[in-house]
Amino acid sequence: MSYDEKILSRATELYEADRRERQQRFAERQESIYRRAPRLREIQQRLGGTMSRIMAEALRKGADPQEAIKRLRDENLALQSEKRMLLTRMGMAHDALEEKPLCALCGDSGYTPDGRLCQCLRAYCAREQQRELSRMLDLGSQSFDSFSLDYYSDDPDPVMRISPRQNMERIFDYCSGYARSFGKKPRNLLLYGEPGLGKTFLSAAIAREVSERGFSVVYDTASGIFSRFEEQKFGDGDETEVTRILKCDLLILDDLGTELTTAFVTSALYRLVSERLMAKRSTIINTNLKPREIAGRYSAQIASRLEGEYEILPVFGSDIRLLKKMENR
Ligand SMILES: Nc1ncnc2c1ncn2[C@@H]1O[C@H](COP(=O)(O)OP(=O)(O)OP(=O)(O)O)[C@@H](O)[C@H]1O
Ligand SMILES: [Mg+2]
Ligand SMILES: [Zn+2]
Repeated sequence: MSYDEKILSRATELYEADRRERQQRFAERQESIYRRAPRLREIQQRLGGTMSRIMAEALRKGADPQEAIKRLRDENLALQSEKRMLLTRMGMAHDALEEKPLCALCGDSGYTPDGRLCQCLRAYCAREQQRELSRMLDLGSQSFDSFSLDYYSDDPDPVMRISPRQNMERIFDYCSGYARSFGKKPRNLLLYGEPGLGKTFLSAAIAREVSERGFSVVYDTASGIFSRFEEQKFGDGDETEVTRILKCDLLILDDLGTELTTAFVTSALYRLVSERLMAKRSTIINTNLKPREIAGRYSAQIASRLEGEYEILPVFGSDIRLLKKMENR
């Protein structure tokens, strides 16, 4: 579980910019204190001097080491109390001249002493990934909380034998459980059905929750994803984009079948599906194609992997885009 390089490097840039800005602001605050009380600058410089330098100075004057240490300590205490007194008189806190890290866990380095990504930098990554996902998905309004079951009819579907609502209740529970337990073991989903039934909506809800929990998530449409493969192969495309697609913890490939399906696309899809299965990385595919159409359009190898390794969830009911349009009339 980790954020990918693109997200991490962007997050690190922002993290460091914020840290520099804090340092800058602190230096300005410090300067303004020194302007009001120049003596404080002297005191700070004296206190900030290294032990060894002060010791050397004392010894050069020919004092015996015990004496030197004692004098040093006394001087230190005197300076500390003078500093406190000056600061108090200015109405400032005792530690106003000390720069404290914002994150005590990592001292604002972004990594804990054992070398792991600290939660403070992790939060920047989560935000950066959320921003990336929001370019394609409506993460603001599409969540499990805002998903309504009221658009799905209670009348049993003659072919499926259950109502769209019963069906969607089951899919909703499955998807919210999927997001909650993401990371325990790899699981793949294939959501298929007619347009306007909430497939992209559910994907956005999953993406949002899984991303918030610290996993790398990439969302794109089939045509977007296959263009990345083409750019990498034939153009000056960015290698890291294909790596992100193949290596992220959760890949959501939307609208499979709406791209122009070429032999190149079929082989890219095969590579994507099989490499991710082998590496035990989770994938969600949405499509308007029925499972048997997938075999015809792509290949039997792809269809076999999807049928064998993906949880296949059929969505059916009435087009919610149209229902909403009628509501607004
Ligand atoms: N359960 C729901 N509650 C509220 N709004 C919904 C729900 N499902 C879908 N919508 C809305 O209906 C519209 C279509 O939904 P969505 O984009 O998820 O459909 P889709 O199944 O992905 O369709 P397509 O196959 O055309 O991509 C969107 O505006 C979405 O916000
Ligand atoms: Mg969709
Ligand atoms: Zn930290």
